[in-house]
Amino acid sequence: MRRGSIVQLIAIGVVIGAGATLVALLIPWLPPDASEERNGIDLVFWFTTAIAIAIFSLVAAVIIYSILKFRARPDDDSDGAPIHGHTGLEIVWTAVPAILVTAISVMSGIVLVQNDHAASNALNVNVTARQFFWTFTYPKQGNLTSAQLRLPVGRSVVLHLQALDVIHSFWVPEFGQKEDAVPGQNTSLVITPTKVGTYPVICTELCGLGHALMRTSAIVMQPADFDAWVHQEQQALKGPPGNAGQAVFASNGCSSCHTLKAAGATGTAGPDLDKLPDYAKQAGKPLPDFIKESIVDPNAYVQPGFPKGLMPSTFASLPAAQIDALVQFLIQSSQGG
Ligand code: CUA
Repeated sequence: MRRGSIVQLIAIGVVIGAGATLVALLIPWLPPDASEERNGIDLVFWFTTAIAIAIFSLVAAVIIYSILKFRARPDDDSDGAPIHGHTGLEIVWTAVPAILVTAISVMSGIVLVQNDHAASNALNVNVTARQFFWTFTYPKQGNLTSAQLRLPVGRSVVLHLQALDVIHSFWVPEFGQKEDAVPGQNTSLVITPTKVGTYPVICTELCGLGHALMRTSAIVMQPADFDAWVHQEQQALKGPPGNAGQAVFASNGCSSCHTLKAAGATGTAGPDLDKLPDYAKQAGKPLPDFIKESIVDPNAYVQPGFPKGLMPSTFASLPAAQIDALVQFLIQSSQGG
């Protein structure tokens, strides 16, 4: 290869590499970062992107150069020269990618191990995934439950994930970290939020009909606001039974599928709970028994017009006191009192 040809090849590669680098840097591909763990994850992401840009530039430069230089001229009917491979080139293009892929794995491994370290004062939160919503329980805060993940800013949190039915996956794009929730296994995830704000919690494992709707919010608060919220929720749980039932209704995501005026719920995937007394009459059952059965064994009687099996049967695992409080709340609110 002549000197001039090599210069041309390199020039084409540099132009393509510069273009790809601009596309990578000028477009905001990643969500804003809001956790310490995001730093390492972004580092691996950019390392991999840099390698991809280098290889893309090399391959594209060789292709473009060949198209310009070696294309058949008009009236050229001759065959190409008989070329038999090039052992040296083949060794290089096998060894270099192998080294790069190994480097990416080693770097990812180091970041994953680092991101698994929780501070000794970490906040523990149990995350329960089921079709199709999330429940967050704070064991050290009197087993407080919430349908949103509330976290104090600047403190490590260890999420203990469990799934009650099928595999789900917990992801907050701004936090970077992602982990599967697998039935029968305990998985965990460390997050240290760095910015106050509200971020989406997304299920990233196809888990059934409602998968795309299996979303809630992660709310990162000032530590004092977080403590005030914990205190306020604990007071609500100690209040009259109606309040306890309403808290169970709110923290178990009932409002994502059902309408209930008393709870400000407007879901339409399941039956309208303001009509529970009518439904109980249609089913020929006393209202309290009907409500309880519909919660713990939802497929025993399904209101006509709604699909069988849509209501999860996992609520039977709620503590008996919470189920009773929920039943009381639904009786009172559906009877308009
Ligand atoms: Cu849960 Cu997808």
